Amino acid sequence: MEMTGTNNTQVIFRNYVKGYPKETDFELIKSSLTSLILPPESTAVLLKNLYLACDPYMRHRMSNQISNPGTLINSYTPGSVLVGYGVAKVVQSKHPDFQEGDFVWGLTGWEEYTIIHNPSSLNKIKNIDVPLSYYLGVLGIAGIAAYIGFVHLCSPKAGETVYVSTASGGVGQLVGQFAKMMGCYVVGSVSTEEKVDLAKTNFGYDHVFNYKEEDWGEDLKRYFPQGIDIYFDNVGGQMLDEVLGHMRPHGKIAACGMISQYNLDEPEGVKEMFSIITKRLEIKGYVETDFKHMYQEYIELAVRYLKEGKLVYVEDVAEGLENACSALVGIFYGRNVGKQLVRLADK
Ligand SMILES: NC(=O)c1ccc[n+]([C@@H]2O[C@H](COP(=O)([O-])OP(=O)(O)OC[C@H]3O[C@@H](n4cnc5c(N)ncnc54)[C@H](OP(=O)(O)O)[C@@H]3O)[C@@H](O)[C@H]2O)c1
Repeated sequence: MEMTGTNNTQVIFRNYVKGYPKETDFELIKSSLTSLILPPESTAVLLKNLYLACDPYMRHRMSNQISNPGTLINSYTPGSVLVGYGVAKVVQSKHPDFQEGDFVWGLTGWEEYTIIHNPSSLNKIKNIDVPLSYYLGVLGIAGIAAYIGFVHLCSPKAGETVYVSTASGGVGQLVGQFAKMMGCYVVGSVSTEEKVDLAKTNFGYDHVFNYKEEDWGEDLKRYFPQGIDIYFDNVGGQMLDEVLGHMRPHGKIAACGMISQYNLDEPEGVKEMFSIITKRLEIKGYVETDFKHMYQEYIELAVRYLKEGKLVYVEDVAEGLENACSALVGIFYGRNVGKQLVRLADK
C-alpha cells in the first residue's frame, strides 16, 4: 500500500449556498489517515485520488433539500467532504473486481484518499495510454454528454446549421468538433476573446462570438440567415429565449445544461415558447448517467479519434487541493479555459 505522511487533506462543504458559491463555502482540513482502514468484512476499496473535476452540476448539490431521484443531483451534507467525479488509483481492495494499482473514474471525495464502500459505482479505466485526466473530460461525463446530446439525440446531417453556447468549455469544445466531423456549419458563443480564438483555432468552429460584448440577436441573425437546425444548449435562460426565435422549422434543441440559471434565486422565464409549436421544434433534455450502456462504445471511439489526431481536448488544470475551491468557484464566472480540473498527483 502506497500512502505517505499521516494526514489526509480534505475539502469540507461548510453550509448550503445561496447565489454564487464562494471559496469560504468550503474549508480545507487535515484529518488522520488512521481512519482510512478498510473494514475487514467489507467489499470496499481505498482510493488515492489523482484528479478531480469541477463540474457545474455540483452547484445544485450545494443547495438545500435538493432531491432529483434517478440523478446524482441530491444535496451535499454540510460538514462533510465534498463529493465529485475523480480519477483515482486503487491502493487497497477487498472487492474481487478491483486490484491494487487499478485506475478508476467515478464519484469520489475531494480529499487525498477516499474509501468507497460500494465500488460497483466506479468505472475501471481500460485504456491507460491516454492522459488519465481525460476520464474527467473528453472520456468522462463531458464527452459522454456531448456525444449523446449531439450525435445520438440530434442525429445531425451534413450541411445542417448548429449553434453551441459555452463553445470552448468541457462539453462545448467537443460538440464543435463533432459538428465539423459530421459536415455541419457550426457557430459558438463564449465570454472572452481568448476563448473566441481557442474555439476557432483549436476546435474548428466556423464563427464564434463574444456574448458578453455583442448583441446576440444580431449575431444569430448574421451567422444564421436561414435559421438554426440544431441548438446545443449549455446555458438556458435568456440565450435559450433568443435562440427559439432563430430556430428553423423542425429544428432540434439538446437541453444539456442551464448554467446561466444555477446561481439565481429565481430562474429567468423563457417567453418565446410559442415557437416550439409553430416551428414544430423538438427539445430533448437528458442526463448522461441514463446512457451508461453507451459509455464504453463512446470511450473507444473517442480514444481512437484522439490517437488519430481527429479530436483534441483542452483542460485547465489547477494544482493541489489548496487551489481546488477557487477553481470550482471560477467555472461559474467563466474563468476556466477548457475543462476545469484539479491535479492532486500523477499516479
Ligand atoms: N446533461 C448532462 O448530462 C450534462 C453532463 C455534463 C455537463 N452538463 C452541462 O453542460 C454544461 C457545460 O458543462 P462543462 O462541464 O463543459 O462546463 P464548462 O463549459 O467547461 O465550464 C462552465 C462554463 O460555463 C459558462 N458560464 C458560467 N456561468 C455562466 C453564466 N452565468 N451564463 C452563461 N455562461 C456561463 C462559462 O463559459 P463562457 O466563459 O464561455 O461563458 C464557463 O467557463 C453545463 O451547463 C453543465 O451543467 C450536462
